[in-house]
Formats: sequence, structure tokens, C-alpha cells
Amino acid sequence: MKNEQMNLEHLWMPFSANRDFKSKPRLMNAANGLYYQKPDGSPVLDGTAGLWCCNAGHGHEKIVTAIQEQAAKMDFGPSFQLGHPLAFKAAERLLKLAPSDDFQYAFFTNSGSEAVDTALKISMAYQQHIGHTEKTMIIGRERAYHGVGFGGITAGGLPSNKKYFTLLPGFDHICHTHDLEHNAFSKGEPSWGKHLADDLERVIEKHGADTIAAFITEPVAGSTGILVPPKGYLKRIREICDTHNILLIFDEVITGFGRLGTPFAAQYFDVEPDMITCAKGLTSGTVPMGAVMVKTEIYDAFQQGDAKAIDLFHGYTYSAHPLAAAAALAAIDVYSEDGLIDRAADMASYWEDAMHSLRGVGSIIDIRTIGLMAGIEMEARDGKVGARGYDVFTDAFHEQGLLIRITGDTVALSPPLIIEKEHIDQIVEILRKIIPNH
Ligand SMILES: Cc1ncc(COP(=O)(O)O)c(C=O)c1O
Repeated sequence: MKNEQMNLEHLWMPFSANRDFKSKPRLMNAANGLYYQKPDGSPVLDGTAGLWCCNAGHGHEKIVTAIQEQAAKMDFGPSFQLGHPLAFKAAERLLKLAPSDDFQYAFFTNSGSEAVDTALKISMAYQQHIGHTEKTMIIGRERAYHGVGFGGITAGGLPSNKKYFTLLPGFDHICHTHDLEHNAFSKGEPSWGKHLADDLERVIEKHGADTIAAFITEPVAGSTGILVPPKGYLKRIREICDTHNILLIFDEVITGFGRLGTPFAAQYFDVEPDMITCAKGLTSGTVPMGAVMVKTEIYDAFQQGDAKAIDLFHGYTYSAHPLAAAAALAAIDVYSEDGLIDRAADMASYWEDAMHSLRGVGSIIDIRTIGLMAGIEMEARDGKVGARGYDVFTDAFHEQGLLIRITGDTVALSPPLIIEKEHIDQIVEILRKIIPNH
């Protein structure tokens, strides 16, 4: 179908420049493997796994079949006080990827935002259940993205996402770890910046440890432009949380399911949080689903008193929707059968070298890489943050058939884990060509 035949007016697109899009749309209507297809049939190389989602690539037969079969078998099942077998199987299967056997419980949601809000609520309720009644605050980090629920935007650290909205009380933030002067062009974890974890001590001292329920962080900050934690930083964060009995939540919505060459970033950094939020790659992006993986001691704290009383007043109509549960089971099978969980570890050094070969090109001021993630930061135009990034993004799509993600003036790359070296070369060559034009 040609764009001009379509009425694009009525959809209010999320996180989009609606008017500009509608004047020159970017539509894709098919996908297979590493490629999307535009309505005119031309291919678009997927440099972003959709939106950090499609780790198995597009249209994987096993996942497609699982969803189709489940749709025909049972379309929907109520999730409160009732269950269907795939929900329980999906929980069990997901937890096999957890960093340790201490994680024995999964709570399903429909998105990363819901997973974050769920984890924040669980942490607050947990502290109440174990008698720490003053521990109600949540600490996040500047520049963090934890989705768009009120909990997520308040815990998050992106000013544009907070502007105009009344935020929740009882939140504070530590500083982020990005510093061009000290850690630009780092390959993997920067060697400078571990000490920044101690900012958590500052915030704890400010409010008192007995007022803080949890600290939430993305192990690698993604949506703000790929900020890789300095060496030793996350271990130090873990120590501080332990010292003050503060729960540590890793928001692994983008770092889960093999993005760094391990099931979760927790294993990559060898740091075990108390809860992990995930989504996106959980179903390889095929059906919306998120989850919170929880340690047994947390779940157990809710299982006191009357066994016939609801233990957590929280949940979603579509928690563990049958199609999502079927998709998750199939996707996790595919990840293990096709060797995708650790594939990023094999590709990482090629990826890193290829990305860093762009150093010196055009307006690039930093390149950050880890696993199969890269952030290529360009200098902002005077007084126009994000304008250069937007132009590179639209040029890549319209002229070069390459899908990249832009956050501000940073190109953020996170391809499907099935990517081959030739595609990595292709991405780099396109960027080498177009970045200097902007
Ligand atoms: C770290 C992190 N948390 C939460 C979310 C929100 O996920 P969703 O868009 O599925 O609500 C995202 C989305 O990119 C994310 O990167």
C-alpha cells in the first residue's frame, strides 16, 4: 500500500514528532530475520532489534507457530485467582535464566514500565511486611529510563519525561556515570568512575537508611544513550545496599536475554540484585510482556497470615496473557537452541572494533560499546539538542535503509542477536557515510 493512500492523521504516535512523521512517514509493514520491509518492498536493516526487543530476529518460525497455536487453543484467561498452565511454565522457564536459585518467583506484566512500577511497589510492601515501616523511599539515578508510569518517571532521571507531570513523593537520585572528560571512547566498562557509586552513600545519609526501601538502576543505562557502568561500580552499589538493608533492583528491560552475552547483565557484571525487571526480549518483542523476577525471601514475606487473603493487591488483566506466555516460552527456547544467549559474547570484540573505527568521523565525540550495544554520541548543534541526531536517523531510514535509534544526539545500536559480521560492516559504513553530512 502506498503511503499517500493511507490516512495517517488519527494515530497519536508515542514518543514521536507526529507532524513531521506525517509529512514524510517512515512505515514498515513486514519483517524477517534481520530486515524490515517498507511498503514499497525495499529492505531496512534492523540495527535496533525493533526497539531493543527482537533479540531472535524477526518472524522466527518457532515463536510464530507457538503464538498461532495458542491463539487457536485458548485466547484469554483471567489472571486473578485463576491460571492457565503456560503462565506457570513461563515463570519456571524464565527463572532458569536468573542469576541464582534464590530467584524462584516471577510476576508478569505487559511492559517494562509496568514491570518497574510492580517492582517498586513490591519493594515498598516488602519492607512493610518485614517490619521496616519507615522504609518507603526509592532512590534512582540521573539519566535513568524506567518507562513511563508515574513510578518509572519519578525514579527515572530524564527531565523531558517528567516535565508537566506531578511526580510521586519519596524519591531521590544519585548522579550518573557519564563524563566525557574521563571516560570518552571507553571500550566496555570505563576504568574511571567507580567512586561515583559512593553518591548513593550521600543520598542515604541525607535521608537516613531507615527511610529507604530500594535503589533501582539500569545496569547499562540504555535509553539515555548507552552509559556503561565503570569497572567495579555495580559491585560497590551492591555493597552499599547490603550495608543499609536497601533492596537493589536491576532494570534489565534492555540488557536481558543475551544483549551482553549472558542471560542478564547481573551475570555479566557478577552482581546479584534482589529483583530484576525485564520485558522486550522476553518474547523477542512478539507479544507485549514484562516480568519481575523476585528472590524467595521477598515472596515469602508476603505469604503470611490468612492463606485465603490476597497477598499482593496488584496485577494486570493481561498478566501472563496466554499468547504472551506462549511467545515467552518459545522465545526462551529459541535463545537456548540457537545459541543466542551467549552469541553477543562471541560477536562483542568485532562489534567493538567496528564501532570504534568511527572515531574521528564528523561530529562524533564519544563511542561506547558493550556486548551488542553501542552508543555513538555526536556533538549537539548550537542550542538544538537532538536536531543532528534526528537528521541522521531520518537519513539512515529514508536514504540508506538502515534502522537506528536516536536518543538526543546519540545513535543507539542494539541489533538482533543473529547479526553477522557483514551486517555490522554495513551499519558502520552507512554511518561513516552519513554522519559527516549532518
Ligand atoms: C530500562 C528500561 N526500563 C523500562 C522500559 C519501559 O519499557 P516499556 O516501553 O515496555 O514500558 C524501558 C524501555 O525502553 C527501558 O529501557
